[in-house]
Amino acid sequence: MTLNRAHNFNAGPAALPLEVLQRAQAEMLDYKGTGMSIIEMSHRSKEFEAMINETEADMRELLNIPANYKVMFMQGGASLQFSMIPMSFRPSGASADYIVTGTWSKKAVDEAKKLGNTRVAASGKETNFDRTPASLETDPNAAYLYYCSNETIHGVEYFEEPTPPAGVPLICDASSDFMSRPLDITKYAYLYAGAQKNVGPAGVVIGILREDLLERAPANLPVMLDYKTLAAEKSLYNTPPCFSIYMVGLVMKWLKNLGGLNAMQTRNQQKAGLVYNAIDQSGGFYKGHAQPANRSLMNITFRLPTESLEDQFASEAKKNNLIGLKGHRSVGGMRASTYNAVEMESVQALVQFMQEFQRKNG
Ligand SMILES: Cc1ncc(COP(=O)(O)O)c(C=O)c1O
Repeated sequence: MTLNRAHNFNAGPAALPLEVLQRAQAEMLDYKGTGMSIIEMSHRSKEFEAMINETEADMRELLNIPANYKVMFMQGGASLQFSMIPMSFRPSGASADYIVTGTWSKKAVDEAKKLGNTRVAASGKETNFDRTPASLETDPNAAYLYYCSNETIHGVEYFEEPTPPAGVPLICDASSDFMSRPLDITKYAYLYAGAQKNVGPAGVVIGILREDLLERAPANLPVMLDYKTLAAEKSLYNTPPCFSIYMVGLVMKWLKNLGGLNAMQTRNQQKAGLVYNAIDQSGGFYKGHAQPANRSLMNITFRLPTESLEDQFASEAKKNNLIGLKGHRSVGGMRASTYNAVEMESVQALVQFMQEFQRKNG
């Protein structure tokens, strides 16, 4: 059977490595001689426990996570974190600082406001979220400083984390650039990511939490909203998202085989570089949304001269097997998501298509 895999530029759920899908397919009917798939067995079985432990160990190795950090596999999507973070890490009466760089950090700040004192330490709104703010007005007494390392919709990425005042914990939504490059986890008190961009299917959120933060959580939190439960029970307090965790585990093996996060970073820089080059060399036909210093390596956002050309671009791209290029409905334009699993070959096909489209319509 010949495979007709799409050039997949979806923003999430997004492309997964072919090898990972094939391995899942091969193991679907009989996982390691058990006579059943991983999603048909107890999450208390020794096979499942071995799998989740190995997934965590591989992630710790790839990210160099110190022993005083917990790794949690959670449900509720990255969006539930918007509520859990202030509930757990902002003590009653205290205020928390947020940097707003686009849709996702705005959603986080709105949720935090519902629950207590919240300050915006900086916002990119004035420049239509095309860059990370140059200066911060941080509160030295803030419970934490929150930011989003990659705004998936606007295509704006931080390449160096913002610096909170001394003693203020840094919290990050890394949903759309998690494990796309190395990061120094010791700079963060808490970092989380939905899996469905770079590391697996939807359904699981990975949280990496410095243990001392757990002491802040009030005693009366609902059990499923309490990081203490999740951390103490090693993500097995209740039935976890078994299949999603298994797939994340396979992606960890794939990342290790490819040479880890340094190798992945080089690959991602090369891929995004090709598309940004095509934008820059188009003489203004394609216009990138993000300022060059903050151009996301994961979500490349750009516009064409008119909306009708944008529609035409998306529909002709689709006919050429280039899928998922329409920008988010809230901002319009085009967006090419070039996550870890998107192959160079797909990016080359996109660039060629962009050049041809301009030749015909420019
Ligand atoms: C940066 C970022 N944060 C949070 C979310 C919300 O994730 P979920 O749909 O898993 O709640 C998304 C979704 O695309 C995202 O890109």
